[in-house]
Amino acid sequence: MKNLFKKQSDEVAEIEELGELNERVDAKLLEEVQEYDAVPSEAASYGKTTFWDERYAGDGEVVEWYHPWGNLAPTLTQYMDEQDEVLVCGCGNSEMSVDMYDDGFENIVNADISKVAIHQVTEIYKAYPMEWKSIDLTREEFPEEKFDVALDKACLDSIACNLRGVVNAENYLQQMDRLLQPEGAFICVSFAPPEERLELLEYWDIDQPAKCLAWDVHVDTIGESSPSNFHPAVTCSCSRVWVHR
Ligand SMILES: C[S@@+](CC[C@H](N)C(=O)[O-])C[C@H]1O[C@@H](n2cnc3c(N)ncnc32)[C@H](O)[C@@H]1O
Repeated sequence: MKNLFKKQSDEVAEIEELGELNERVDAKLLEEVQEYDAVPSEAASYGKTTFWDERYAGDGEVVEWYHPWGNLAPTLTQYMDEQDEVLVCGCGNSEMSVDMYDDGFENIVNADISKVAIHQVTEIYKAYPMEWKSIDLTREEFPEEKFDVALDKACLDSIACNLRGVVNAENYLQQMDRLLQPEGAFICVSFAPPEERLELLEYWDIDQPAKCLAWDVHVDTIGESSPSNFHPAVTCSCSRVWVHR
């Protein structure tokens, strides 16, 4: 028993050390970014849990990124059916999941890295029988092939903004590939230019077969692009995972 406690406290110390190391590397990277950009954008924090916890703890106001479900539904329902098991990735406190429920999608699991957001939505939307989980989706948290659809609205965009964006985004997409049914769909609503997202969604490297995504990607555009618009044209990249992986 004594040995077990010692092993556990060694593991905790190791995790804390790793956390501190990560913080130091992030601070260093941020310094380097600041050299190029005198006013570093808030976006560099979008992949950090602390950023989202603080943001949701603010006034608890419900924030809907890009588009409400009503605008997205005509496009997205081409790729998903009402009986599908749906994972809503990085749900925040958005109303999308409950609007989907009202439209007949009754099998929804919501996940977000922010405990504060999950605490809030469990309360605000308690009338809706769906699950809300505080989870880091770049890690292995769900069983293999659990879902038919993983619906991402601005979650990959946040993950990709982080200083370690590309690595985190790759880990995240590997997890999406793992948790989806062989013919499931990863649906990503993003405001990034399609070519930037296609680089990630169609990842193929002959030297790294385990990291390749054999996805067939469709791109749809929702809304108008305008230089003065804070949210320019929203691109929805929908992909079906091929049976052969
Ligand atoms: C821009 S907000 C979008 C919220 C919501 N989907 C919407 O459309 O209004 C991005 C969300 O992704 C969550 N997020 C960021 N990184 C994550 C990760 N690794 N795992 C799960 N959620 C994450 C954040 O906590 C935040 O709630």
